[in-house]
Amino acid sequence: MEFKRNILITGGAGFIGSHVVRLFVNKYPEYHIINLDKLTYAGNLANLTDIEEMPNYTFVRADICDFDKMMELFKTFSIDGVIHLAAESHVDRSIKDPLTFAQTNVMGTLSLLQAAKLSWADSFEGKRFYHISTDEVYGALHFDGTFFTETTKYNPHSPYSASKAGSDHFVRAFHDTYGLPTVVTNCSNNYGPYQFPEKLIPLFINNIRHGKPLPVYGKGENVRDWLYVVDHARAIDVIFHEGKIADTYNIGGFNEWKNIDLIKVIIKTVDRLLGNAEGTSEKLITYVTDRAGHDLRYAIDSTKLKNELGWEPSLQFEEGIEKTVRWYLDNQEWMDNITSGEYEKYYESMYTDR
Ligand code: NAD
Ligand code: DAU
Repeated sequence: MEFKRNILITGGAGFIGSHVVRLFVNKYPEYHIINLDKLTYAGNLANLTDIEEMPNYTFVRADICDFDKMMELFKTFSIDGVIHLAAESHVDRSIKDPLTFAQTNVMGTLSLLQAAKLSWADSFEGKRFYHISTDEVYGALHFDGTFFTETTKYNPHSPYSASKAGSDHFVRAFHDTYGLPTVVTNCSNNYGPYQFPEKLIPLFINNIRHGKPLPVYGKGENVRDWLYVVDHARAIDVIFHEGKIADTYNIGGFNEWKNIDLIKVIIKTVDRLLGNAEGTSEKLITYVTDRAGHDLRYAIDSTKLKNELGWEPSLQFEEGIEKTVRWYLDNQEWMDNITSGEYEKYYESMYTDR
């Protein structure tokens, strides 16, 4: 079958990637979507069971660091667009194991860039390399009402954010040096279904359900700007098609929450949905040693994206968090398949070794 476009989505078995794959496969039957994922601990094909039989979808298990394999894939599938999400994504893991983050996030991105540049050498016309990055590259804000904009200077603090910053620089360098048609976006914290339960929201929902402690880092005063994952996928769709080459767009929900306040909303929602009396699970809050180098506050200004491409979040936070909590409570099997076995041992060590 001849497709209008052949788009390589990396990291499509992960949290955000699975929502992007789902959106593109369903919305664009005329595109062939090739989902490339190494299936690390964070990759889970159970995130995609609803679309895996679609005729315009192909899954390939591969490592983005494997340059020869990337060259082969570009050729086999006549790739003309890349949406690059594959990465090591958890800050706490990066503190324990920074080398893996440099390898995947920097060298893996470089391997993909080089494969795209060589494979598209005849003409960059109609091609696009879209790199998904994070607001963490900008560093941390104080409690002063300021925001990260597209011109905020990079100032990463964790091995994770440093590795993402490194990859962003390589992407821009490939545009400036070789003319590769790139675009970069920096997004705030995502939440929603299919997020790996090492991240705050799914971890805490699951712990409340099982009556386990909720490990709040430091005093719980750090602030994050939360965006529903499907709204991020919608933004990626708009930017992939209409974003300006060589440009950068910030994506965020103007939705800042102090961790402890967010945690109380989660507790209230889970208790209500489980039929517990209000406040039942507040006793699970356990203040633990802070994350090393813990960034105080992130807040994204996404005005440029709204003004230039008309994107805005579609969901209010109250609605998004309700949907999210319901999803995790309704999909306990998905959760149990992850949290049993090897993961459980790793998770325990994360907190005992602190
Ligand atoms: P995730 O950890 O849930 O998924 C990452 C996926 O990448 C997994 O499926 C994993 O198997 C795959 N992967 C890892 N190493 C690979 C390799 N070497 N080769 C091929 N595949 C590999 O991550 P996520 O939260 O979905 O984040 C996706 C992207 O979005 C990342 O680049 C991250 O930096 C960025 N981002 C995340 C957030 C967030 O809040 N989660 C916010 C802004 C930006
Ligand atoms: O800002 C975008 C980033 O958001 C993404 O680039 C990252 O990939 C993603 O993991 C996320 O990073 P954070 O470190 O902000 O997310 P996390 O869910 O790990 O933590 C959110 C906040 O909650 C943070 O201030 C740390 C705190 N926290 C987290 C965990 C896991 C706790 O207090 N206790 C916990 O157990």
